[in-house]
Amino acid sequence: MNKQFLADVAAGLGSSPKFLSSKYFYDKKGDQLFMQIMDLPEYYLTRAEMDIFTSQTGDIVNLLGVQKGVPFDVIELGAGDGSKTKMLLAELLGERFDFDYVPVDISANVLAHLERVLSLELPDLRIKSQNRDYFQTLQYLNKAGKQKIVLYLGSNLGNMPDEAAREFIYALGKNLNEGDKLILGVDLIKPSNVVLPAYSDSQGITSLFNLNLLHRINRELNANFKLDQFSHIAEYDEEIGIAKSYLKSEKDQDVYIGALKKTFIFAKDEKIQTEISRKYDQVIIGNILSGTGFTIKGVLKDKNSYFADYILELH
Ligand code: AVJ
Repeated sequence: MNKQFLADVAAGLGSSPKFLSSKYFYDKKGDQLFMQIMDLPEYYLTRAEMDIFTSQTGDIVNLLGVQKGVPFDVIELGAGDGSKTKMLLAELLGERFDFDYVPVDISANVLAHLERVLSLELPDLRIKSQNRDYFQTLQYLNKAGKQKIVLYLGSNLGNMPDEAAREFIYALGKNLNEGDKLILGVDLIKPSNVVLPAYSDSQGITSLFNLNLLHRINRELNANFKLDQFSHIAEYDEEIGIAKSYLKSEKDQDVYIGALKKTFIFAKDEKIQTEISRKYDQVIIGNILSGTGFTIKGVLKDKNSYFADYILELH
């Protein structure tokens, strides 16, 4: 039993309004559903960032300022399927740079899949997977003193409120050295008619992804959520640029969590917040970076200006 999961569920469902952390979406089923989400026609984020990594690969390499003959590590936090990074890695290999690729993920499944794909497609790539915590990995790599390029893509940052995002980036910097780079991929603020469908797709995959969290609580914490009595809701505030996902109780109901020996009461229409997906602009990014030690070396956008990859340097 995962003690932290139990404690977080107890705290979230004991609060008013209720919430659950999106970090618990990613069990085996959740990983699979997220891969399906990335292929959805409505989920523009992945394609937009792929466009940047495909059409501006050379610009990225130039902004990184890496040198031939000086070895470095390319460290990807939350590696996923590596499809975007693959473009950059292929370019670096083609240009004969001396580097290791270090994908870091808490999911061993994800890393195994990634290694299989990359060893076929880029046989010359040196992969050093790390199935560990981000900060543990960075600390350990920092001892070697090699230059580091850290990738945090896919607008994963958007699951954090801005203050937490700032602290996260500050903490990354604390585990890096002067001159190290961070490629930060963020979704940009845009109208509701583009953003909202990405979080409420017509095939209902996002709904399954959200509901899978209750399934996981049932299985791992011995609870009795009735999955057909909760529904997926997505909202987006275009002014502030924040999308939120909820699970809404369809009726007055009680749920018993065996591992807590506790009953939780849900009113009809009561919502559990399960995720925030922050969208950004230059001002918000500037605020998040202030005091972290990182400065902006360049910003690359896709052809629709839906998404941006910031190339940041630590000073
Ligand atoms: C992986 C956090 C970037 O917020 O867009 C996709 C997760 N949630 N659909 C996002 C997600 C619902 C995704 N991130």
